Amino acid sequence: MGHTVHINLGERSYDIRIEAGSLADCGSLIKTVTPAKRCLLVTNDVVKQWYLEPALGSLKSAGFDASPFVLPDGEHVKSLNCLESIYHAMIEARIDRHGCVIALGGGVVGDLAGFAAATYMRGIDFVQIPTTLLAQVDSSVGGKTGINLREGKNLVGAFYQPRLVVIDPDVLSTLDGRQLRAGFAEVIKYGIIYDADLFAYLEDHIERIFKLDSTCIAHIVAVSCSIKADVVEQDERESGLRAILNFGHTVGHAIEAVTGYDRFVHGEAVAVGMAVAVTLANSVSGFTDGCVKRVISLLKRSQLPYRIPSDISTESIIECMRKDKKVKNDIIRFVLPERIGKVKIVDDVPVSAIARAIDFYRSDCD
Ligand SMILES: NC(=O)c1ccc[n+]([C@@H]2O[C@H](COP(=O)([O-])OP(=O)(O)OC[C@H]3O[C@@H](n4cnc5c(N)ncnc54)[C@H](O)[C@@H]3O)[C@@H](O)[C@H]2O)c1
Ligand SMILES: [Zn+2]
Repeated sequence: MGHTVHINLGERSYDIRIEAGSLADCGSLIKTVTPAKRCLLVTNDVVKQWYLEPALGSLKSAGFDASPFVLPDGEHVKSLNCLESIYHAMIEARIDRHGCVIALGGGVVGDLAGFAAATYMRGIDFVQIPTTLLAQVDSSVGGKTGINLREGKNLVGAFYQPRLVVIDPDVLSTLDGRQLRAGFAEVIKYGIIYDADLFAYLEDHIERIFKLDSTCIAHIVAVSCSIKADVVEQDERESGLRAILNFGHTVGHAIEAVTGYDRFVHGEAVAVGMAVAVTLANSVSGFTDGCVKRVISLLKRSQLPYRIPSDISTESIIECMRKDKKVKNDIIRFVLPERIGKVKIVDDVPVSAIARAIDFYRSDCD
């Protein structure tokens, strides 16, 4: 039995279907949400080796005239060049404004293909088939699409909701452990910001989760998607509440940037950012010592990093947050938990307190 999470956004509402084996059935699921005949199935050359044929076969059996478009692997494809190549492929496949774009891959493919769908002929139907844990619990849901410029990540994009998200937990079997853990960091994030029961479930089931027990994976993906759906329903365009999804990300983004985006994968940097944030919360927003211990212990058990390496200076991280214009008058807005399952946005956290929290994780603080 699968799970369906509905995301209610008026005429932009859609379902997230989570079911083992659903990749092989994606054609008939997609048929129910779009009148399109022609579609472009965008993937990359890693994902292609296992999942292109089943997806394409299913689309064809459901009556779609489906053309594959295979990108190289890597974050660099979130570029104007690759975006343009998708537009040309759509013209070549004779896709008009009644056509559909389907993203089969991780967050990179989803963000790029989603932005292509948002802009091609002023917007055509779009479906996500996320294949990384990060994409299944985060990037495929909520409608943020976009590309990078050389000046920075995600600088060009659109809010554009898919018509459907098809999640097959079985595809995670080919994902490498590091990517799985990185996605898991975002699941831990949902527990801390929104759902103490989810957090406790992760503590109790971590071994089964990392063995990819399908019941456990489907459960954590479904709960994560329903939390994201809940937040996005209340604040689709990030004017307020949606900012809580950035928990752990202020310091996380700075760590990614100062290390040139090639030392930590995103979820690892977020794990370190969450460790810093809970320490800060311990002094600012009443997050207890016991809760800090639970978070750090779960990060450790997940083999996620939680310390800032000694060669990254505190000043370089703070400097990076300043460049990001996040710091004003030496204070910064920060998402901080009050307890596990509940966060608040604190407007005036002093930079000096953040520096102390960062420094804390250099010492042996276990
Ligand atoms: N739109 C949003 O709301 C949102 C949210 C978070 C992150 N993002 C974006 O998502 C991107 C990161 O996504 P990601 O972590 O999925 O990275 P990714 O798409 O690069 O995937 C990670 C790696 O896993 C490979 N892969 C994908 N599926 C696989 C599978 N089933 N088996 C084996 N290998 C597989 C990919 O080819 C890649 O090498 C970033 O560009 C980030 O900006 C977007
Ligand atoms: Zn993230």
